[in-house]
Amino acid sequence: MRGVAAGYLGEKVVEGIDLEVRAGEAVAIIGSNGAGKTTLFRAIAGLLPCAAGRVIFDEIDLTRLRAHRVAHAGVAYVPAERHLFPAMTVKTNLVLGAYPHRPHPETLELVFKLFPRLKERMRQRAGTLSGGEQQMLAVSRALMARPKLLMLDEPTSGLAPKIAKAAFGALERLKATGVTLLIAEQQVPLALSVADRGYVLENGRIRLEGTAKELAHNPEVRRAYLGVA
Ligand SMILES: Nc1ncnc2c1ncn2[C@@H]1O[C@H](COP(=O)(O)OP(=O)(O)O)[C@@H](O)[C@H]1O
Ligand SMILES: [Mg+2]
Repeated sequence: MRGVAAGYLGEKVVEGIDLEVRAGEAVAIIGSNGAGKTTLFRAIAGLLPCAAGRVIFDEIDLTRLRAHRVAHAGVAYVPAERHLFPAMTVKTNLVLGAYPHRPHPETLELVFKLFPRLKERMRQRAGTLSGGEQQMLAVSRALMARPKLLMLDEPTSGLAPKIAKAAFGALERLKATGVTLLIAEQQVPLALSVADRGYVLENGRIRLEGTAKELAHNPEVRRAYLGVA
């Protein structure tokens, strides 16, 4: 994306966003609460109009496309709130993830391999799962559409630290399957543990970018996000 701006009621929240995600990469957008991560994701996903700039994905111009067209182009977005169907079973949530297509048996197998817990809980209502299991289900439901790019907004949101760490372990396995990942996180050490590259978003602008290693060693990042004096 080049020069993207987006916001609410005519106010730009993110501006001048240039970023690139290559096929097979895991890229982290790191930034504290209110930095504009969700706004940026909503703009990419077609849930919020871009006030400026361009978003190109796989040679398709997504800039003016509505959310369902963006999804159709191969981009899946998992919001921090997850938006599961709480009264429906794990299985039904997964089946609906493939909509309007039938679930692909191979994809179901992949999901169950990544998250064996979900297989055990197939008949359980999604709303009764633990936070960590709900996050697994949200990611899995998105995978059911066989996306090329999976955007995860704060996958650790609402999870206890130990569960958050486990969730990132699962993302590592997910990455190994070849799906491209764009992850927004405030939990910078976790984000940088799985990302190849990252961008630091501050007040709606990209302030720094680099490989995960570069960012983890950057004094500014260490001071602001890693709690190193
Ligand atoms: N629906 C909305 N209407 C107006 N302002 C919003 C809305 N959603 C977010 N904002 C504002 O946009 C800024 C960035 O928010 P957000 O993109 O949610 O940041 P992050 O995801 O990094 O925490 C904040 O100042 C927030 O108050
Ligand atoms: Mg957010």
